[in-house]
Amino acid sequence: MLDPVFISIQILRVKELPVSIEKVIEDWDGELSCCRFDRDTGAFFTVAIHSRRLGPAAGGTRAMNYAGFDAAVEDATRLASAMTLKMIMADLPMGGGKSTIALPKARRDISADHWDQILKVHAEMLKSLGGNYWTGPDVGTSSEDMDSLHASSGYAFGRSVGAGGPGSSAPETAHGVYVSMIEAIHDAGISDLRGRRVVIQGLGAVGYDVAQRAAMDGAHVVAADPNEAQCKRAADELGVEVIPTDQVLSQTSDVFVPCATGGIVDDSVARSIRTKAIAGAANNVLASESAGDELARRGIVYAPDFVANGGGAIHLVGREVLGWSAEMVSRHVLEIGHTLEQIFARARAEGVGAERAARRIAAERVR
Ligand code: NAI
Ligand code: PHE
Repeated sequence: MLDPVFISIQILRVKELPVSIEKVIEDWDGELSCCRFDRDTGAFFTVAIHSRRLGPAAGGTRAMNYAGFDAAVEDATRLASAMTLKMIMADLPMGGGKSTIALPKARRDISADHWDQILKVHAEMLKSLGGNYWTGPDVGTSSEDMDSLHASSGYAFGRSVGAGGPGSSAPETAHGVYVSMIEAIHDAGISDLRGRRVVIQGLGAVGYDVAQRAAMDGAHVVAADPNEAQCKRAADELGVEVIPTDQVLSQTSDVFVPCATGGIVDDSVARSIRTKAIAGAANNVLASESAGDELARRGIVYAPDFVANGGGAIHLVGREVLGWSAEMVSRHVLEIGHTLEQIFARARAEGVGAERAARRIAAERVR
């Protein structure tokens, strides 16, 4: 149980907050959300614990220059809920949580000293949570940042190998996404990726690895990323066809692989996207449940993100909590394919989209 003193700071009012933050928390079914503004660094911190029913909550720390504090709180709460589903579906003994840091400027413009100060404040929050929440890397944070957070709080997964951790979660996340793409295209009646058109949004740590796997299978890989150097590398090394970022959603593909940010498939995209299957790493790909229903109505196979991107959580929790070897982690990641098979079968049997079917299975597993 959480310390009662801690519960009493459920929303730590250090600044006059817009009403929408209250609305975000009111509408959320999580256990705890705590926010802190730090005047010295100009950063706004949120830790959201969605559920500790299956174990201490875990989820990465996302650091970005958000549009506003309300957006950072909303992101933390939605991502924390997705982490609960991810842990259940990957059969890991952890609950769901997430932290966000709303930076006063873009991450690349934050100096090393400023960043160290920001991490110190975040570590204080982690420490005060006393192990009810464990963090890990996410967008804007790295294994090296986890080294520092772990050293000062004791509650960070994903430290670098040199610091005694299991290193980046991205390779196993990409492995799981690849397994999910294969399962999704099978469900769409396609036997393999050879000669198929794979459109990838985001060529970061996960997206680039997925592009490599798809290219090795003989797919025609089309990808977009605002990072020009990364696009050039993908074109030169993997033969990827690079397209502008604003053309991703209008492409025709056999499989669409979102590996950038969430919320990209809204109702209108679900009505218009020309693909046979969607499987990617981005958390919360669907902007609404109705978008998932529309994909199902149009016969587009959708691999729910909280299943498809579970490889990173399996790597971190498997290595650091369950004491698994790298081989055991890889075997567990392969199980994502079987889980998706179950989800697709259930979706068909009950005439609902895969996202709804997966949520039903998760609810039953918890019961
Ligand atoms: P990353 O930060 O290395 O890569 C993200 C890439 O997306 C960057 O190269 C960025 O330039 C690009 N991007 C941003 N906006 C874009 C746009 N509009 N169009 C195209 N590209 C755009 O992050 P990483 O680790 O590759 O993760 C990708 C996604 O998967 C993130 O949403 C992350 O939360 C999620 N995820 C990652 C896991 C991991 O283990 N790394 C685990 C589970 C989920
Ligand atoms: N941030 C990653 C995710 O969304 C990896 C992670 C998993 C971080 C579990 C912490 C705990 O899955």
